[in-house]
Amino acid sequence: MKLEPFELERIQSLWENVVEINLSESGVEPLRLSELVDVEDLRDIRLGYTQTNGSVPLRRLISKQYEGADEKNVIVTNGGSEANMVTVWNLAREEDRREILVMLPNYMQIWGYAGMMGLKREAFWLKNDGTRWAVDLEELKSKISSNTVAVAICNPNNPTGAVMRSDELRAIGEIADDHGAWVISDEAYRGSELDGNLSPTMWNYAERVLVTNTLSKSFAVPGLRIGWIAAKSREKIEELWAYTDYTSIAPSALSDHLAAIVFEEEMHDSIIDRTRHILRENWRVVEDWLSDNRDIFTYIPPEASAIFLIRYKSDIDSIQLAELLIREKSVLIAPGDHFLMPKHIRLGYGHHADKLPVGLERIAEVLRA
Ligand SMILES: Cc1ncc(COP(=O)(O)O)c(C=O)c1O
Repeated sequence: MKLEPFELERIQSLWENVVEINLSESGVEPLRLSELVDVEDLRDIRLGYTQTNGSVPLRRLISKQYEGADEKNVIVTNGGSEANMVTVWNLAREEDRREILVMLPNYMQIWGYAGMMGLKREAFWLKNDGTRWAVDLEELKSKISSNTVAVAICNPNNPTGAVMRSDELRAIGEIADDHGAWVISDEAYRGSELDGNLSPTMWNYAERVLVTNTLSKSFAVPGLRIGWIAAKSREKIEELWAYTDYTSIAPSALSDHLAAIVFEEEMHDSIIDRTRHILRENWRVVEDWLSDNRDIFTYIPPEASAIFLIRYKSDIDSIQLAELLIREKSVLIAPGDHFLMPKHIRLGYGHHADKLPVGLERIAEVLRA
């Protein structure tokens, strides 16, 4: 099967450590190890293999977010990316269902991997209705069929920062359940809502639900590489475990230990507060810049996550624009074309508060020129 380059990850890998100002990051400034633990307390941790599907204490802590779940409803993975990968790999093996419906725009991992696994891909879109990014349920209804193995959503959404409402999730869950399709709900940015209201989880709205998630975004510890899959079907979780035996065997023992600390109530709440605080503070800077440049941009403000989409008024294509910004201004942004959104850029505002105003100004300068 043909390997499709994952353009977004590649442009970031190439340039994020080279440019002066990186506005392509989707998470917030990461935590230091010493903010989580007294480093002395780690001296005696045994660096062996841990429980391969994640330790029982960690899975139990993760399961608390999902009503009626316990550790058997959860498998721990190496990041949300492994969670998405094994989920799609597993579903792509269903012989009588050969199609996946993916909500776009989206983080393109599921889209790309599903294509490589031989699934036919169909999109249903989040559409800018002038006030918010609203999911087109009619499009979903018209495209779903008995051949659909899964409906994949990303909520809160990368790249728009939009949060779908619970009535929208309920409708998606009902449509999928009616057709016997799974719902893959990538909830990597749950917890990073600017208004402080936790976004709804698909867990509550579909029977055949596979929630994927990660500590990389709202929890600000991407270097731990801890993600998870939660499903009401314990059989499905058992099945997925057989896949991680092939991909990574187990999460790192040290990361498993530290992840359990992240989920301790006080720590969990303080990390989430920190994330939301960074986002609100930085968003003010972005808003000022946007209002100074109203004539060259349109946008919908993000509800969650450290990213949002800007539509710019210029003929330049978004990949050329990104290249120009790297070359002439040492600024990295994510081009909209990497999300199938031409004439847009995805801006990340969760990092480098000190450099944010300068980086933003450089983007406006290039577009005006
Ligand atoms: C929506 C979404 N899911 C999953 C991932 C994968 O992240 P990680 O593997 O660090 O958990 C990302 C990374 O940007 C993302 O944006």
